[in-house]
Amino acid sequence: MTTDVTPGTDPAPNPHATEEQVKAALTDTKLAQVLYHDWEAETYDEKWSISFDERCIDYARGRFDAVATDEPLPYGRAMELGCGTGFFLLNLMQSGVATKGSVTDLSPGMVKVALRNAENLGLDVDGRVADAEKIPYDDDTFDLVVGHAVLHHIPDVEQALREVLRVLKPGGRFIFAGEPSTIGDFYARWMSRATWFATTNVTKLGPLQGWRRPQEELDESSRAAALEAVVDIHTFDPDELAGIARAAGAHQVDTATEELAAAMLGWPVRTFEAAVPPEKLGWGWARFAFGGWKRLTWLDENVLRKIVPPKFFYNVVVTGTKPR
Ligand SMILES: C[S@@+](CC[C@H](N)C(=O)[O-])C[C@H]1O[C@@H](n2cnc3c(N)ncnc32)[C@H](O)[C@@H]1O
Repeated sequence: MTTDVTPGTDPAPNPHATEEQVKAALTDTKLAQVLYHDWEAETYDEKWSISFDERCIDYARGRFDAVATDEPLPYGRAMELGCGTGFFLLNLMQSGVATKGSVTDLSPGMVKVALRNAENLGLDVDGRVADAEKIPYDDDTFDLVVGHAVLHHIPDVEQALREVLRVLKPGGRFIFAGEPSTIGDFYARWMSRATWFATTNVTKLGPLQGWRRPQEELDESSRAAALEAVVDIHTFDPDELAGIARAAGAHQVDTATEELAAAMLGWPVRTFEAAVPPEKLGWGWARFAFGGWKRLTWLDENVLRKIVPPKFFYNVVVTGTKPR
């Protein structure tokens, strides 16, 4: 398998990595990205509750508006780096942010699913397998570049942002959202680990065994977690991320942070969902999880934002423009 990407000859998805490939991936972060995300691509939307309806359109637009300026919408041509299944760009396009889109990702499986989602939504989108550190598009191509939860996977973030600025038209804007803050990542990981430990042990007990996933599924999740440790490379202090963007040549750099109490609910909820059989969790659970997240987001925005320093929030958003 190669992670080298040549335009016009995109590699095919590989959803079933061999033991040997997984072993090699433990010391090769880009191979790990491809194996891990190709493997996850077809089930990713379900795992992360990604949809292309009002709920996720509002969520994506909220992340964009956190740092967007009053530039007129829509942008013409937009590109997403590390698109996954297209959650960010496709929902932003549905909310009127851009008219034409290009989805790109290092994982061929993700590009395939993102293009399928775009087609189902009737959006004007093309796609390409692309490494963010070497973007296979010409200079001055896009009016907007976006990304969600991708910068923390890229070994050389400054090089990726230099590439973003190269493919943006002069005056064009980038917005990267959903990046883990250094402090947020610390508490999210500990809360997730504690939830996994408690759930997988409590469900060994007699009456609760019906809530235990088959051992092979739990083992698979643990193997995924091992690769996750290889693919999650960075966490960000908001000011340091702004400094990296400026060093790459960006102008008008700004950052925002989001989700504190909401993240403290969100991470244990997602971990619990991964640890128990999905059929045990019905609409009541979904209402609790989404309703709880919405109420805690209100608390974050209206109360905690006024008293807690920004770096304690979980998500970092960064924006900047290409000099005219
Ligand atoms: C956490 S997922 C986020 C996917 C999507 N943006 C979302 O928010 O649902 C990170 C994505 O970045 C991709 N990725 C990782 N390293 C990359 C790189 N160097 N260049 C491009 N994409 C990369 C992965 O394949 C994966 O699809």
